[in-house]
Amino acid sequence: MYTDAFMQESIRKVEAAREANMKLDPRRMTAEEKSVLLKTYHPDYREDQFENLVMGPNAGQKVPVELAKLLQGQSRLLGVDIDLSKPDYETDVLIIGAGGAGTSAAIEAHNNGAKVMIVTKLRMGDANTMMAEGGIQAADKPGDSPAQHFLDAFGGGHFAAQKDLLYKLVTEAPEAIAWLSELGVEFDKTPDGTMVTTHGGGTSRKRMHAAKDYSGAEIMRTLRDEVLNRQIPVVDFTSAIELIKDEADRCCGAVLKNMETGELLVARAKTVILATGGAGRLHYQGFPTSNHYGATADGLVLAYRAGARLLYPDTLQYHPTGAAFPAQIYGALVTEKVRSVGAMLVNANGEVFMNPLETRDVSAASIIRECSDRGNGVPTPEGYAVWLDTPMIELKHGEGTIEKRIPAMMRMFGKHGIDIRKEPILIYPTLHYQNGGLKISDDTQTDIENLYAAGEVVGGIHGRNRLMGNSLLDIIVFGRNAGKYASEKAKSVTPGTATLAHVAAFEQQRKDAGVTGDTLSPQLLPDYTRKVK
Ligand code: FUM
Repeated sequence: MYTDAFMQESIRKVEAAREANMKLDPRRMTAEEKSVLLKTYHPDYREDQFENLVMGPNAGQKVPVELAKLLQGQSRLLGVDIDLSKPDYETDVLIIGAGGAGTSAAIEAHNNGAKVMIVTKLRMGDANTMMAEGGIQAADKPGDSPAQHFLDAFGGGHFAAQKDLLYKLVTEAPEAIAWLSELGVEFDKTPDGTMVTTHGGGTSRKRMHAAKDYSGAEIMRTLRDEVLNRQIPVVDFTSAIELIKDEADRCCGAVLKNMETGELLVARAKTVILATGGAGRLHYQGFPTSNHYGATADGLVLAYRAGARLLYPDTLQYHPTGAAFPAQIYGALVTEKVRSVGAMLVNANGEVFMNPLETRDVSAASIIRECSDRGNGVPTPEGYAVWLDTPMIELKHGEGTIEKRIPAMMRMFGKHGIDIRKEPILIYPTLHYQNGGLKISDDTQTDIENLYAAGEVVGGIHGRNRLMGNSLLDIIVFGRNAGKYASEKAKSVTPGTATLAHVAAFEQQRKDAGVTGDTLSPQLLPDYTRKVK
């Protein structure tokens, strides 16, 4: 498959250096080195790619330019006459989004006796959860502890995580694994039933539980089955386009749009949970993405327009190892587990240039430096890339390891004629995760009464950089909590008269702030139309 002469020559160098490289244990960077590296090469530090919001709860704070357009965009309901007094749906808890967080919330709200409804713009399970590969962290083995887990995540997130949220994440992690196992998730185990756990970047203990390298798909399969078995209503191909509030400024539903017919519908609820996921399909700074098709920041837009604050909306995660070649899989996730089980990062000259398990932001910046200023990248049709030397894995751990531990990776590259057991693969950072999002309290409530949030739409749990395996964990821990809290609250809520006054007020603020442009938001689907000049 590697027909390009430069690639072939570079592979020969990688092969020649492999034996010596395998003996290396590259030192970790110092805090000072990391700080300089990040400021110089990490995309979050490219000032020209951000702008300050001029209106709304985060006015004055910087966000990616693409997100600013949407947060300050125009409602899809301007000039539309809609009768909120005749709802199409009425429920106790309305959940917007049907990935891991939304479905976990639905299960727990249902357990608590609530009438629950899920609405999703695509289908249940069309979510980043489904695409997650490497695993889920939990300190549930001897020699590890939630305190250790907390320290790893707090340091990895540059000491910016909301401590109460992170505390909840790590202390409820062992219970999350037990809950998933009980529901039927088939985690990897040794013959005596012990969970197999590995390291991820920035972990001081092996606490990554996995289902091979399709952990998210296995978790999503199980959660989806549970929702279906319980006959929880799921309205699919229907997106939320505005939240509804009552006269006391409490959230009490959403205006929905049928994605096929365009019909507008009204859903009334006592409480609402936003579980709309991330924003990778906005392709910040032109990066490819590992995200699913619907990841367009809709939840941030809906809640911001209704008055909820965001936390750290200026910090994104670029997964260090996105597939860089061939073009058909450009940007697809190459799980960090590939490095956990022994592959090293190697430049075009066959040189190891970093410890493979630095945290993600540091790893991504290091790869960008190698391909830019250092000039050590391998040219590809899309730009430059470095090698992930996968044949090292079987040389270290024996034949059959790749098929057993990372079969999805073997299949993904195999489809394009690359046998990762024998040939290295080309990788480059890909837009993977939004570290920032809605600010929530430890009962998962946003700034808006009766509006809860869980999953990637939330900011602050991981600080300014998330460690591998803490996202699958956060959707379960905070999804379950959101379901419990929102359903409990619903027992004592009597919504008042429904209004969209906040939408009109926001439009007035746009005018007052001099925001121009006619960008409609939420975006709902990515824009892949070719722009004709
Ligand atoms: O590399 C990975 O498998 C990704 C995991 C994560 O984002 O947590």
